[in-house]
Amino acid sequence: MLLIISSDFCFFIILNVLYIKIKSIICKMLQKLRNKILKKLSKKSNSDRFIKYTTSEAVIKFNMSTRPPHAYCFYNAVKLAKRLNYKSISVIEFGVAGGNGLFFLELFAEQLSKEFNIDIEIYGFDLISGLPSPQDYRDLPYIFKKDLFPMNKDVLKNKLKKSIIVEGDVKNTTKDFFEKYNPAPIAFIINDLDYYSSTINSFNIFYGDSKFYLPRIFCYFDDVLGDEISMYCDYSGELLAISEFNETNKNKKILLNKNLVSSSKNHWRYQIYYYHDFLHPKYNDYIETDNQEDKGTFFHG
Ligand SMILES: C[S@@+](CC[C@H](N)C(=O)[O-])C[C@H]1O[C@@H](n2cnc3c(N)ncnc32)[C@H](O)[C@@H]1O
Repeated sequence: MLLIISSDFCFFIILNVLYIKIKSIICKMLQKLRNKILKKLSKKSNSDRFIKYTTSEAVIKFNMSTRPPHAYCFYNAVKLAKRLNYKSISVIEFGVAGGNGLFFLELFAEQLSKEFNIDIEIYGFDLISGLPSPQDYRDLPYIFKKDLFPMNKDVLKNKLKKSIIVEGDVKNTTKDFFEKYNPAPIAFIINDLDYYSSTINSFNIFYGDSKFYLPRIFCYFDDVLGDEISMYCDYSGELLAISEFNETNKNKKILLNKNLVSSSKNHWRYQIYYYHDFLHPKYNDYIETDNQEDKGTFFHG
């Protein structure tokens, strides 16, 4: 009798375990299918309106958005902020022009904010009138000229929901930015000012009080790869600004990421840099999991 009961009981347990396993496999398959369909819809419509139907993690993993490097940096900046116990962060775009970058940031911020329970501020720096006059060969006048990329401020301001436009030359606006706006700590910076002179001036942003920064910041540089016409090199443009910043600063560096460069096939892996402030009070805070299983970067697209 006891034998019958115990064999029935074993059968019941096995059946239940099988049920749970099969349910989880089917769930994962359906999620994968959903994400594949959303990716197809996003690519076909060349828009980001479908990303809200999935998780931010899937947006990155499936390379779903119209701005994959921005999405990658934003998502990982939020994750880093959470590990360091920040309750709010700022994201900055240097060079706004038509505002497509800010539109994407606003959309993804809504999703990240909800998922990770974090407040996100967005700032866009721009002259409004478009590119200023190039100063010398370092500003690449063979591909950029005065008045390119003007901004229609009124149209843009009506369309933007939460971004703050910081108007004027970054040479000046970066200097009183912290006093004027008291921003949440900066976690991610997009640099798309095109010129060497504008880019090096935008790096004034790194000389404020440490309370305004995460100890490490995700940085995306738009003009470091180019093509056979732009022929970017280390002695002009954004690349020169980065190397001069690193020469000038002993304890602050802007360095090409190592993780994506070694694991991703996307061309933009060479556009993502990490800013390190080695003397930041939270630079040495331990943020790894003890079993070291969650290694953060899972993106191999
Ligand atoms: C290529 S556009 C930015 C495009 C935008 N990021 C996008 O993804 O649509 C470059 C912008 O940088 C701005 N810019 C260049 N130098 C600047 C400076 N010194 N101060 C402020 N804005 C500047 C120009 O006004 C222009 O709108």
